[in-house]
Amino acid sequence: MTRDAPARHLWRPYTQMRLAPPPLEAVATRGTRIVLADGRELVDGIASWWTAVHGYNHPHIAQAVADQLARMPHVMFGGLTHQPAERLAARLAALLPGDLDHVFLSDSGSVAVEVALKMAAQMWINRGVSGRTKVLAFRGGYHGDTMGAMSVCDPEEGMHRRFGAYLPTQIFCDLPRGAVETAALDAALAAHRDTLAAVIVEPLVQGAGGMRMHPPEVLATVARLARRHGLPLIADEIFTGFGRTGSLFACEQAGIVPDILCLSKALTGGTMALAATVARTEVFAAFWSEDPAAALMHGPTFMANPLACAAANASLDLFEAEPRLTQARAIADRLAEGLEPLRRVPGVADVRVLGAIGAVQFARMPDLAVLKAKLLAQGVWVRPFGDIVYLTPALTIDAADLDRLIQAVAATVTALAPAST
Ligand SMILES: Cc1ncc(COP(=O)(O)O)c(C=O)c1O
Repeated sequence: MTRDAPARHLWRPYTQMRLAPPPLEAVATRGTRIVLADGRELVDGIASWWTAVHGYNHPHIAQAVADQLARMPHVMFGGLTHQPAERLAARLAALLPGDLDHVFLSDSGSVAVEVALKMAAQMWINRGVSGRTKVLAFRGGYHGDTMGAMSVCDPEEGMHRRFGAYLPTQIFCDLPRGAVETAALDAALAAHRDTLAAVIVEPLVQGAGGMRMHPPEVLATVARLARRHGLPLIADEIFTGFGRTGSLFACEQAGIVPDILCLSKALTGGTMALAATVARTEVFAAFWSEDPAAALMHGPTFMANPLACAAANASLDLFEAEPRLTQARAIADRLAEGLEPLRRVPGVADVRVLGAIGAVQFARMPDLAVLKAKLLAQGVWVRPFGDIVYLTPALTIDAADLDRLIQAVAATVTALAPAST
């Protein structure tokens, strides 16, 4: 086993280390561009896994982090508190719908999901109800890479399918897109009611499961059925939160208030790792007790890191001061205009746009290495996976860079079209 010198020590994400070409070296970021060590500048089509909503290096966020760095980069959160976290929690509570008022901070999306699952399970324990240990999740879903989060990802198509025997078994249903699926979901909830602790859903878009979108009515049906069966609904807005779907939170479009909501990714404007699991008062009330053992038993070392909270507060300032939602809707229009014609290209199965998310699905699995190379050759940073190529740019992207991304995707998809005979 020989490894190239630069690749000797780092073990890379989702990467077959033996086969993968060496990664590109990034040396700087600015706006919606990534600068490589060889001098190339790429237009970023995916905002670093959907995080950098304001573009990279936004001066307002950079200044807030620098100021915080000079004062207090980190302090433990057990027994201590600080203004950046207090302020962030109050602002999130004010922005989120309904009484989603109780904010638990952690350090990554997967952990936010773990905390949500644990909150739901412990809520039942604290209420003196035993046996409610399972979660109902949806096929096509993705919720992260840690144990609990993996267990609620799609068990057959998802990237964690090989771990079946290792994970807690959960209940899976199709999203209720029609009467048949709605009846099946209702029946599954009734059948498993006494063992279920919660229902978990990605509102409006199943992201890493393939950018599969569903209308707000489907989400409203999920919420209605969870409520009918007395189950808390966990909305995983780690991808959809902060404007990505055209509203600040995707749940707003269905007019629902989930019982627990997870945030991460764009929470700090893509600057640092931070996540939040936010609960409604009824969930929180199950933990409010004279019994110390009824406390939420979770506490990541770097939870509520002051630098990350400062970045998140600065990011929220930008959502207040700048027209991010208008920008997201303008991106949606341009994505629809630019990508829709690709439906007619042979080999394209579907084109989907929602907010600042545009996806083109191939009828057959493409050669991802070829696809990636063709995109890169056009000076764009786009990471197709499975049978889709998608764009989720910064909400601040200008028209010229957005058009460059769309044109690169269009040219690549067209170049890969099977020759018609
Ligand atoms: C909907 C959703 N939930 C959870 C996660 C996991 O987040 P993280 O990678 O920060 O652990 C992701 C990441 O892509 C996600 O899209």
